[in-house]
Amino acid sequence: MQTQELGRGGPRVSRIGMGALPLSFDGRPPRDAALKVVWRALEVGITFFDTADSYCLHAGEVGHGERLLREALAAHPAGAGALVATKGGIARDGRRMRKDAHPATLRRACHASLRALGAEAIELYQLHAPDPRVPFADSVGALAGLLAEGSVLRVGLSNVTLAQLDEARAIVAVTSVQNHFNPWDRSDARSGVLDACAAGGITYLPFSPLGGSRRVALLAQSPGLAALARAQGATAAELVLAWLLARWPAMLPIPGASRAGSVEGAARADALRLEPAALAALEAAFAALPGAGRAPAAAAA
Ligand SMILES: NC(=O)c1ccc[n+]([C@@H]2O[C@H](COP(=O)([O-])OP(=O)(O)OC[C@H]3O[C@@H](n4cnc5c(N)ncnc54)[C@H](OP(=O)(O)O)[C@@H]3O)[C@@H](O)[C@H]2O)c1
Repeated sequence: MQTQELGRGGPRVSRIGMGALPLSFDGRPPRDAALKVVWRALEVGITFFDTADSYCLHAGEVGHGERLLREALAAHPAGAGALVATKGGIARDGRRMRKDAHPATLRRACHASLRALGAEAIELYQLHAPDPRVPFADSVGALAGLLAEGSVLRVGLSNVTLAQLDEARAIVAVTSVQNHFNPWDRSDARSGVLDACAAGGITYLPFSPLGGSRRVALLAQSPGLAALARAQGATAAELVLAWLLARWPAMLPIPGASRAGSVEGAARADALRLEPAALAALEAAFAALPGAGRAPAAAAA
């Protein structure tokens, strides 16, 4: 797996990461199988893992995803070279998810994440989503405080607009933006967020890069994508990841995985080289996907 800097001048991490949401949400694999998925990711060269304190089933197990990654990475020889990014700002009421980015809540959440990860400092701490009930500058100010005290080494934002990114950058150094981006939703290529990230040395982490677990099957079912995939000796999902990397080199896709086969696909995607004609053909095939042209609302998760 090739590597890239996380933010400007940051540590080098794999060019494709692993989204760990499917290891903690409904339908997740048993613990032993989940550990094996993380180990397989390490074996194919993945060194960037994305999770959140809210990646769990209910309020009683907040931090499930963080604890799972801690355990998996500690038990594998390559685990020490991996970087875990986590998020705070979404609380659990029973099974329900609710935005809560009050400064005091973010501080408590960050300290709980530190304990769950067993870390002295969090490598990348992301605001999961702006909270409409809290002035955005106050939430970002809390992240700046956590950075200043050394609880977090880098700050990221998720589910933000260009105006929010600009506002945050006036308060704190922003290392990453994690927004919804996939063949169905390329709004950040038009909104200016991607351009601002590229110009500012900010890593863009497209979440749900394959459309999310409910839409991913549509990729393989698309006759146009299937034909292009056959021509490249790849799968439709691998082509989508290769397309993201080829079109926007500052991106670091974080496909979610609950099977070893999915992380192996990420490694194959890293090795694919798509010529301009193949990229154009792919984009034409995306236009024929069911639901194309109707950018789905991005739900923070
Ligand atoms: N910040 C936010 O608000 C937010 C919101 C959503 C997600 N995220 C983050 O972004 C990550 C990715 O998003 P996501 O999990 O929602 O959607 P996704 O990555 O678009 O799709 C995940 C689905 O794709 C499948 N998949 C992955 N690699 C594949 C491959 N090579 N071939 C075939 N299928 C493949 C997975 O299958 P298997 O499960 O069977 O392996 C899973 O069902 C999450 O894990 C999470 O870390 C963040």
